[in-house]
Amino acid sequence: MEEALLRISEVSKHFGGVYAVNAVDMEVKEGGIWGLVGPNGSGKTTLFNTILGLYKPDHGTVYFNGKCISNLAPHDIYAEGLVNAFQLPRLFYQMTVLDNMLVAARGHQGDRLVNSLFLRKGWQEQEKGLIDEAIEILEFVELGKWAFSPAGELSGGQRKLLEVARGLMAKPRLLLLDEPAAGINPALGKTIFQKLKDFSGNGTTFFIVEHRLEILFEFAKWVYVMYRGRVVTQGEPHDVADAPAFYQAYLGGG
Ligand SMILES: Nc1ncnc2c1ncn2[C@@H]1O[C@H](COP(=O)(O)OP(=O)(O)OP(=O)(O)O)[C@@H](O)[C@H]1O
Ligand SMILES: [Mg+2]
Repeated sequence: MEEALLRISEVSKHFGGVYAVNAVDMEVKEGGIWGLVGPNGSGKTTLFNTILGLYKPDHGTVYFNGKCISNLAPHDIYAEGLVNAFQLPRLFYQMTVLDNMLVAARGHQGDRLVNSLFLRKGWQEQEKGLIDEAIEILEFVELGKWAFSPAGELSGGQRKLLEVARGLMAKPRLLLLDEPAAGINPALGKTIFQKLKDFSGNGTTFFIVEHRLEILFEFAKWVYVMYRGRVVTQGEPHDVADAPAFYQAYLGGG
């Protein structure tokens, strides 16, 4: 059997007496959009932070591409191609949207001193390639006409889009997104999910936490439902939508 891109095995993380994540098993296989849902406080962000190395699991193991990453530092996990949009350098509001994209890409490709000293020509060509690529991704998320505007002029929803675009710029194998459609109007939210799904054909898999279930369920191939730190059900969206455990989680029963 093929090894999953991401495999979470028996992972727990507690804060004092609160089991934010409790013996969670999950697999994300290569390709498409994978969803993670659950009511407020169910442990979704804590799980993401544990995957990303921002928290060490108290118990259990995270594997990426068959390799144990539980003990790696966040930047080493990033270098493996497991990226979170909000882990990138923060937005610089005085800089243009395009420059914000280039900063994100450099973080990944290694703007190393040695490159700029000895490989100047190659570096400049790489930079030109990066600009074309950045413009293409900005057009893809419908921010193309803002490329030369300061990022500070974008609306809240557009800033979210720019975060997603910066995540794509890093060319991750797996991109974790925590509520990408929050603060975006439903039509645009749908457009973004459609585009992420299309983009996944280029070798990026998406694992997305989203409270806008109607949008996520339309595009995800598989959905995990967390409640009180545990995975209470999982499956294809139409099956999850029919699962009693899904309703119980959202109604807060038990
Ligand atoms: N740094 C922390 N210190 C103490 N408790 C925390 C910490 N982070 C999260 N928690 C607790 O862990 C539980 C899970 O929180 P988490 O933020 O992971 O939930 P979530 O599913 O992301 O919720 P939301 O949908 O509201 O973003 C909650 O009870 C929360 O109060
Ligand atoms: Mg959260």
